[in-house]
Amino acid sequence: MSLNTQVGTLKLQTPLLLASGYITETPEFFLRAQPYGCSGMITRSLKQHVPAERARVPAPRYAVFDQKSILACEWGNEKPWTDWKKHGVNQVKRTGCPIVISISGRDLDSCCNLIQSFDELGVDAYEINISCPHSGVLHGNLNIDTVHLRQVMQTVRKVTGTPIWIKLSYSNLLISMAKQAEELGANAIVCTNSIGPGMLIDTKTAKPKLGIKGGGGGVAGKAIFPIALWCVHQLSETLSIPVVGCGGIYTADDVIQMLMAGASAVQLYTAPALKGPKVFKRIMVDLQRFLTENPEYASVKDLIGFTLGKASDHKFSSPRPVVIEEKCTGCGTCVHSCAFDALSMIRRADRSPLAVIADNCISCNACVGVCPPKFGAIKASF
Ligand SMILES: Cc1cc2nc3c(=O)[nH]c(=O)nc-3n(C[C@H](O)[C@H](O)[C@H](O)COP(=O)(O)O)c2cc1C
Repeated sequence: MSLNTQVGTLKLQTPLLLASGYITETPEFFLRAQPYGCSGMITRSLKQHVPAERARVPAPRYAVFDQKSILACEWGNEKPWTDWKKHGVNQVKRTGCPIVISISGRDLDSCCNLIQSFDELGVDAYEINISCPHSGVLHGNLNIDTVHLRQVMQTVRKVTGTPIWIKLSYSNLLISMAKQAEELGANAIVCTNSIGPGMLIDTKTAKPKLGIKGGGGGVAGKAIFPIALWCVHQLSETLSIPVVGCGGIYTADDVIQMLMAGASAVQLYTAPALKGPKVFKRIMVDLQRFLTENPEYASVKDLIGFTLGKASDHKFSSPRPVVIEEKCTGCGTCVHSCAFDALSMIRRADRSPLAVIADNCISCNACVGVCPPKFGAIKASF
């Protein structure tokens, strides 16, 4: 069973990469994740000069919510970019895995200088970050700035032959930005960066949970997975260059969905940041199990784009969901949640009550998702 994939010419042993952020300020976290199946890393978005007012956002810079998602307004570089040049790049290279240098795409001269400097070391790709949602609020939203994107691509494409990945975040202009990047010579699109800005308020103090001016941060982690997946699917339907999926990936099932939506590889940030590097091990075990149990997919590459072209059939038939009698415990969750009064409980002799679905069911299928997963007693019938 082959687990390898590639993003353009960049070969990867597995589809899993460590995304750019605080945990990629140095190679250490990647070096712990690599034995578990993480096949490459993207550095923190590097800046050549960090102006004093941007060195560090006032704390708090993170707010974890629902245990699997983060609101964050981090953007400084804790370590000088030269650390990567002196030893970081080589530490990653010694593992045999690729290293992608992420560069903050705001200052064009700095982009060029960094690229020229890292090209001497032979890095594998550059990821240009023009999609930080919280810095955008304060300093201009590059994620929807087509003029800036043109300037970035025209500038950096001239100075290097190394692959250039453009990292975008969800927006109304996502597809047109991505197409423009492709036309101007980008080798891949990475999507999505954290999405936002979003906000959380501490109700004890009535203050925003983040210390940044305005209180807005980027939303990352489980909360954004469906949006990220939609972005990847739309981009893959539209572009000829590879798409690298990112956003809310925690499980092998999430990875498989991203691949089926068209991603050539995926990046993870919040899951390893919150749960540790062993997240990669769990995903790899489950991914291999999926491929063994579904022999129609001989390899990871077979999964890529499997859903493309399949989202256009609009099915008008909507059969009612079905209650699996032996699994229903009569807990009543579905009855309480049905907005159409289409579910009720009937008594059963010597057994718990059973949910039944009436004729006024409109086949919304909400009850399928509402039934606690440990019971799984209602299934969709299409
Ligand atoms: C604390 C934090 C810092 C981040 N820093 C960067 C960064 O420096 N450059 C970048 O391109 N993306 C950065 N990101 C975005 C992640 O790389 C990733 O695109 C985003 O979090 C969505 O993936 P996830 O849901 O797996 O976290 C950061 C995210 C978080 C939560």
